[in-house]
Amino acid sequence: MKPIVVVGSSNTDLVANVERLPGEGETVMGTSMSKFAGGKGANQAVAAVRTGAKVAFVGAVGTDAFGDETVQAFEEDGLDLRFLKRTEEAPSGTALICVDQNGRNQIVVVPGANGLVGTEQIDSVDFSEFGIAVFQHEIPHEAVWHGLKKAHAAGCITILNPAPAAEVPAEILTMLDYLVPNEHELKIISEKGGSFEEMVEEMLSKGVKNLIVTLGAEGAACFSRDGNVAVPAPDVAVKDTVGAGDCFVGVFAASLYKGCDLEQSLRYAAAGASLSVTKVGAQASYVGWDEIEILAA
Ligand code: ADP
Ligand code: NA
Repeated sequence: MKPIVVVGSSNTDLVANVERLPGEGETVMGTSMSKFAGGKGANQAVAAVRTGAKVAFVGAVGTDAFGDETVQAFEEDGLDLRFLKRTEEAPSGTALICVDQNGRNQIVVVPGANGLVGTEQIDSVDFSEFGIAVFQHEIPHEAVWHGLKKAHAAGCITILNPAPAAEVPAEILTMLDYLVPNEHELKIISEKGGSFEEMVEEMLSKGVKNLIVTLGAEGAACFSRDGNVAVPAPDVAVKDTVGAGDCFVGVFAASLYKGCDLEQSLRYAAAGASLSVTKVGAQASYVGWDEIEILAA
């Protein structure tokens, strides 16, 4: 299989732990502070490359210190960065997150450079170099739709994780080999709504080849005209579910790249994602193929 290309966002997540969340105009003292590499696109690319797959990341970061750190971490993970843009026009994407003692949070995301990924940058990518193309919704939608059209025309297996939840144009749905929402995102994408079965049928009737719904602790299920496959999530001690869905998508793409069939790929994806919830952070919690194989067996 030709390499994977992931087109999407990269963020630096700054997490402050507080006893209680501040009200309007109020200052509260934090008890600790951590910095994590995040952003849905980067998370999925890193989850895939850590399994040993060949992965290129198409996105943008600023020329600031967060951008430098992000690029250095990407290089250490072995991502192909030929299509990564460094821009002086915006800061690197940043998420400011406050978490209180009960796990409640307040989040501000500043897209920064992610908002500058445009169709010209997508045009610099030769999608025929790649076997699998992965997209999410955290960069401008016109860039996502443009990229999906080009990837589909070039014969890539196309994967869209429609997060954050937003509608997907009907024309794009017909170009998707895999649409991978969680249950919440499925409700937003569905025009008709109704029962879970009705929403699945709506997606398939609109031309989605395979609909994979991730179900948190319940695992994941894939629906297609060829039949349905469900896999359980391995039973694990949950610490932090941030980035679990991204890990699922990245490991799923990597499993296809490695030649696994659909059911195996779902198993590996669920195993990788379930391992990621046992550790704090998104990318910080993504492991290699050996560990995933043990849990998936
Ligand atoms: P998202 O993070 O996008 O909301 P989900 O919550 O559906 O996505 O989780 C994605 C995957 O992460 C699941 O399919 C499962 O493999 C794993 N996962 C998530 N939550 C848990 C959990 N509580 N226990 C075990 N695995 C989990
Ligand atoms: Na985690």
